[in-house]
Amino acid sequence: MHHTSLLLSLLATTVAALPGGGGGGNLHRPGRPRPQAPKAETLCPIVFDGRPDSSLQPLDFDDWNTSPFNPDYVKGASLLWSDILKFPTVNPPARFDDPTYQQPFEVTINDSSIFNNQRGFRRAGLQFQGDTNRNSPGSSGIKTIHFSLKWDASRPLNLSHEYLNVWHETADYSANQFNFQAGAILGQNSLARDTWKVLNRQNRQVWSTPILRNEWQNFAITLDFNMNTLRVYYSRGDEPLRSVTNALTNNNAGEGQYQIGILRKPTGTSDVVNSGYHQRNLNEGLIYGSVFVEDSEGGCVSL
Ligand SMILES: *[C@@H]1O[C@H](CO)[C@@H](O)[C@H](O)[C@H]1NC(C)=O
Ligand SMILES: *[C@@H]1O[C@H](CO)[C@@H](O)[C@H](O)[C@H]1NC(C)=O
Repeated sequence: MHHTSLLLSLLATTVAALPGGGGGGNLHRPGRPRPQAPKAETLCPIVFDGRPDSSLQPLDFDDWNTSPFNPDYVKGASLLWSDILKFPTVNPPARFDDPTYQQPFEVTINDSSIFNNQRGFRRAGLQFQGDTNRNSPGSSGIKTIHFSLKWDASRPLNLSHEYLNVWHETADYSANQFNFQAGAILGQNSLARDTWKVLNRQNRQVWSTPILRNEWQNFAITLDFNMNTLRVYYSRGDEPLRSVTNALTNNNAGEGQYQIGILRKPTGTSDVVNSGYHQRNLNEGLIYGSVFVEDSEGGCVSL
């Protein structure tokens, strides 16, 4: 199965490299000129596309008609996504971004990033439009969520804290099928802080890699909701993704939603939702590119 997607990926690379350029683009955006095609084409049907069109302005992220995401969730009540999101120019673009048509975005948090009076957390998390808590196409079959991350040295995370960055939370909010995290995981002091890590439903780390400060890091996580497995893919810069775990047994039951952004946990409390410590004047952010969920039926994964 995996070989099929690898082969497809190689084929796509070949097509994109044909003289005349843009060959690969015809797979994707017929008739539109592509002066800077992305490093890699997506190969599988896209279920949710979190790669904002480059024409979108900040205010468009407050509007159901224009945002790829839910404009109302999950953020401080007094804040708008047009304030929370920044749109840095990042060169080179993330692996699956076509800079002519798509732009990366930065999710930021500060002292006002308090959702629903959860005073222990500082959080800003995006949900895809259409990713309903029940009966979402994102929580059935086989789905792969892709995202690339770039560190922002002007808004660094404080890795003495625990961060959730990408996860899938069950519909009853009782568990996360997986967590993609950074920093000091509370109660698990043996885990390195300066890493991106994937934790399974039992909050056990299944994979990690050092956080790089100067280039994109590309991740994909396949959730097989039929077989109850989880599989991680990774690459740096513009390299193709490689599978870095097997398909690991994981309880993917319970439906729910993906979330993408920053959830910063406090220190010094046993009630992380409602209390605890954060330094004042927080100014943190994380840059996301190439965010999408694809249908991996038949083993299809864009690499
Ligand atoms: C947090 O950031 C938002 C958006 O830029 C801003 O409106 C708000 O005033 C900031 N809050 C603090 C406490 O700095
Ligand atoms: C990072 O977080 C730790 C734990 O809350 C805190 O002691 C430290 O002052 C923070 N660092 C910065 C630069 O604020």
